[in-house]
Amino acid sequence: MISRRAVLLGATAAGAAGFAPSALGHMAVSRDTLPPNAPVRHLALSAAEMEVALLGPDKPKTQGFCAYNGTPFLTWRVPLGTRLMVDFENRMPTPTTVHWHGIRVPNLSDGVAPLTQEPIPAGGRFTYNVPLPDPGFYFFHPHCDETGQVGRGLVALLLVEDPAEARLGFDLEHIIAVKDWRLDADGRWMPMFTDEGASTAGSFGTVRATNGSVIPPRIEAPAYGDVRLRTIVADSTRTIEFGCDTNNAAIIAVDGQALVPLPLSKLPDEVWRMGPAMRLDVHVRMPGPGEEVKVFDYRTAEPYLLTTLVAVDKGKKKTPFKPIALPAAKVPLPDVSRAKKRDFIVQTAAGATAIAPPLPADDPLAKALIDSFCVGDKTFWAINRTSWGAGADLRLPPPLDILKDGDSYRLTITNVTKHVHPMHLHGHVFRVLSSTRKTTIPPYLADTVMTEPNETVEIAFRAKSGDWVFHCHILEHMDAGLMGWFRVA
Ligand code: C2O
Ligand code: CU
Repeated sequence: MISRRAVLLGATAAGAAGFAPSALGHMAVSRDTLPPNAPVRHLALSAAEMEVALLGPDKPKTQGFCAYNGTPFLTWRVPLGTRLMVDFENRMPTPTTVHWHGIRVPNLSDGVAPLTQEPIPAGGRFTYNVPLPDPGFYFFHPHCDETGQVGRGLVALLLVEDPAEARLGFDLEHIIAVKDWRLDADGRWMPMFTDEGASTAGSFGTVRATNGSVIPPRIEAPAYGDVRLRTIVADSTRTIEFGCDTNNAAIIAVDGQALVPLPLSKLPDEVWRMGPAMRLDVHVRMPGPGEEVKVFDYRTAEPYLLTTLVAVDKGKKKTPFKPIALPAAKVPLPDVSRAKKRDFIVQTAAGATAIAPPLPADDPLAKALIDSFCVGDKTFWAINRTSWGAGADLRLPPPLDILKDGDSYRLTITNVTKHVHPMHLHGHVFRVLSSTRKTTIPPYLADTVMTEPNETVEIAFRAKSGDWVFHCHILEHMDAGLMGWFRVA
């Protein structure tokens, strides 16, 4: 098996028509986003399986839950400007990697197997260099067998805190992590990847949960106080429509990046649509003592209660609601007027790919490939007629484009499929300029953007050197071909 892998890796590099993955070949290492004298914090991180009661008390427990440092939804809070040196150990029986979603990391710490590193085998270690140049709400997760491992819980949150935020006057901060579980009635995992799901909207969880719990949390907050609600869709599949039953609520950050406060009441249907991986910071003003604010996902026919905030008297006085603006984001901004334009179509793979038919699933080689190389075995989706390699085709596809370091690019992304696709670009924060369907939302910064059927969105960013993937964050879609990459040199 080891020698066969080595042979296959050789074949991969050779077969990639000159585009050797950087972990195996040579390419420019991206510029650091922090000065060399930035404070360093060394942190140990491990991924392991554990047993958790996911179905609720008095119900069968679930084996094989995956968590970082033994803690479901491990949450790290780190001061802005710190460099994390993360000593990671894989204590799971399957290979993995760690991807720092939304963080402008050096390319070799981006965690994308096999593009930026080889998968970390069971028992293996890897050190990640994670500079934190931007405040905000980020998360990390595997980028190898992502559907299986994230599906079983392997997600952690990373809050990069600007000390200036402590003076903004929030009375309470509360995190809402939206993540369902795909379990049968006995608490056993159901398959995370199904052909039916992967070729349509994805395989949904069977049990809805918030912060891991099937019972929606009830949180006490000071009456007339200011709550910072930080919501993440950590689910592999589900898209929500975030909203709440008060007019005193405003979006203050998207994907961790501050924006001029945008009252929810000004949005179409008064909701913000969030696909997998998206984060949202909302300032909610609490009502009077004893009253409640309910936070819902309005996408389902029957609105799903995510969390209830209960106002308790702490002696605060009622004042007019004025949304609190976070310090403006300082990420490198694109020069939109000079940006080079590129067009991308998100489509089904039918007719779009020239990938060899996959090996039969019971072929030991096919299994070894899928187990070892972090690729799926089916291809249903493509970007500009190119699909990420799957099954027997271990070659990286050629890059979607070769971009120039420091130049600005303006991408149109058109979704010609029948399903939504939240599209994520690694290593960059981009500006969402426009959408053909959401015409009233002012431009904002993000790392993941929703594309609806028949919608074209326009994003712009300043390219930073490295090999960066661009993919749908519905994990089965990504595993079934909906991923490409840019080489920035
Ligand atoms: Cu959150 Cu490529 O991923
Ligand atoms: Cu998708």
